[in-house]
Amino acid sequence: MGQSIAHSDPPERRTILRRFLIALEGALVASAAGDKSIAAPLGEFARLTRSIDATDGWPDRKVSPERLPVCRFWESVLDAAVGGPPEPLISALRQLGPSLSWTQNPNYRRHPPGPGFLDNYGYAVIVGPADGPPAIAVDPQLALGVLLLGPGTHYPRHEHPAIEIYYTLTSEGEWWMGAGPWRREPLATAIYHAPNVPHATRAGSSPLLALYLWRGDLATHATLFPDR
Ligand SMILES: [Fe+2]
Repeated sequence: MGQSIAHSDPPERRTILRRFLIALEGALVASAAGDKSIAAPLGEFARLTRSIDATDGWPDRKVSPERLPVCRFWESVLDAAVGGPPEPLISALRQLGPSLSWTQNPNYRRHPPGPGFLDNYGYAVIVGPADGPPAIAVDPQLALGVLLLGPGTHYPRHEHPAIEIYYTLTSEGEWWMGAGPWRREPLATAIYHAPNVPHATRAGSSPLLALYLWRGDLATHATLFPDR
């Protein structure tokens, strides 16, 4: 864990990353138009996404990307997403896949919330600050990447000071926030979590894939409620 990305930084990967970021910005803008209640935070994330310098690669490229047990679902979750509204995001993610370095919140590694959780949970940073987990590109203001959960996995109540957007790339997941209730969110839905609002996620019978974006306090990891 905590190693860096082995690849050189070929122009093709920068091109794919730019394409991914353009698609992501478009998805955020479209979501803002469709849900006025979260238009302001989505607009701010879209602005920050637009400002990312895709050529600002990760400084240390000597070590191979990390893989985790949950990566066994990567190909199938992408296959399941083909044909949906976020197709440009999915195709870019498929191409970025070999460069993704997977990691886990150290708080969860110390105190896993369930016996199989660490085999069915992981995230990979695509763009993030230089002092965070390895990413493909560096940005000091924003962290974004993918969250992958195995089928039936419950990612229990947690909170963090960062402002967060999730963007669903699968359709069976259930999401909970604040006072609840649990709600199933369709494919290509933006979900906003204000700083320190408790939230949770459950995968359905198939793996769950979502993009996440953080701004604000990027250094403080999420804390599960049982740890408080
Ligand atoms: Fe979160």
